[in-house]
Amino acid sequence: MSTKHGFYYKEGHEERLFIDSTPVKQVIDRLSSPPTPFILYSLNQFQHNVNTYQHALNDLAPIRARLSYSMKANYNPHLLSILKSSKVMLTTVSGGEMQLALSNGFEPSKIIFNGNGKTDESIQMAIESGVLLNVDSLFDLEVILKYARQLNKIANVLIRVNPILGDSNVHAYNTTASKTSKFGTSIDDLESIYKLIEDNHDKWIRLFGFHCHLGSTISNTQVIVECVEKMIKLFDMKRFHHLRFLNIGGGLNIDYKRYANRTANEPEEHISIPTIEDYVQAIKQPLQSIPNSIEIIVEPGRSLVANTCVIITRVLGQKQTGPIRQLIVDASMTECIRPALYQAYHHIDTVISSPQEERIAYDIVGPVCESGDFLGRERCLPKILQRGDFLAIFDTGAYCSSMSSNYNMRPRPAEYTLDEHEQIKVLKKRETNEDLLRTYCID
Ligand SMILES: Cc1ncc(COP(=O)(O)O)c(C=O)c1O
Repeated sequence: MSTKHGFYYKEGHEERLFIDSTPVKQVIDRLSSPPTPFILYSLNQFQHNVNTYQHALNDLAPIRARLSYSMKANYNPHLLSILKSSKVMLTTVSGGEMQLALSNGFEPSKIIFNGNGKTDESIQMAIESGVLLNVDSLFDLEVILKYARQLNKIANVLIRVNPILGDSNVHAYNTTASKTSKFGTSIDDLESIYKLIEDNHDKWIRLFGFHCHLGSTISNTQVIVECVEKMIKLFDMKRFHHLRFLNIGGGLNIDYKRYANRTANEPEEHISIPTIEDYVQAIKQPLQSIPNSIEIIVEPGRSLVANTCVIITRVLGQKQTGPIRQLIVDASMTECIRPALYQAYHHIDTVISSPQEERIAYDIVGPVCESGDFLGRERCLPKILQRGDFLAIFDTGAYCSSMSSNYNMRPRPAEYTLDEHEQIKVLKKRETNEDLLRTYCID
């Protein structure tokens, strides 16, 4: 791996954005008038993030801990090959994700299938192949048992528990363990699930452990500590003798605002975000009381992949609307829905700029025919920006490509990276209009 990894600015008479050891402008020039927007990946940054998690988890020894990547954050198959060679497990949330994991050669026992509403086909696929299933509710368990009997196989399961805990700084849409959450079963309601498992244990089902996930963009490690304390109490080794996993979910935030001090007038509030090491150290203490046969699973998505991508977009123009200067770019909510969906912050800046340039505040908006289509509010960017200038939208590796859409008949963008010789490698081709129409039945 090259020593430099990820996206960073190198200062000089011009500030240049780099990917690994290469200026991003050089990548754009080599692509020669590329259609925009496009996505640029630093797979070196991804490998670095995986290594950071694995080193941090090794520090929990003698407690054993595994990393399981939450594939919903970004299911680009090129990430999966890195994960496989690093022996990372995968957490999947649909039959499609599970099938992708299996077809990429992940061992079924290293795949977790989670979901509050699983289709018959996906449950059958999980049982038949030996994937670990999360039991979300009593009805989910009943369907799992039905198919275990029908397939004459034992289903290996964890129970998704709702510990009713959360970080108050997390947007409601990113919270998954409130009292009224649609995910999991609260601790007080577990007995009926236990009973049904006991009645079928070792015949059609084996309870391997417990799973929980408090939500995403969590910056408060204290709630994770409380969660671990609650979850550990569930391990009744006498009642269920196959118990071996405690999956504490993912959810760690990243510092999306770390570049913001490059420019004035950026949003004021900036909560400090624990590093991966801080997060793992925080759970060390409560884990001391876990039975020593139990392994911990940590299943992050965002903190593994968010900082591995930028979206490169072109300026289309600027205009004044009342007091607001609008900067219209060719990226939009169809490639980066997080600002529109939950007012999320993504840093946006130029690919090349001069430190002396006068900057003014803009609202950065996309061309999609929807008032909610914005990418950033009150961002300071050079006054002289004009049509054709390139901007980068940072930290778009998680929940951007995987949440993208074709709204307004917009093709999904190309995805590129640099290989070990710093040559451009196409990870995904840009969709064509024909691709968008392919599944319509037209007479
Ligand atoms: C069950 C489960 N595990 C893990 C994750 C990953 O969360 P994050 O990307 O915030 O780490 C999610 C995403 O919300 C999830 O639903």
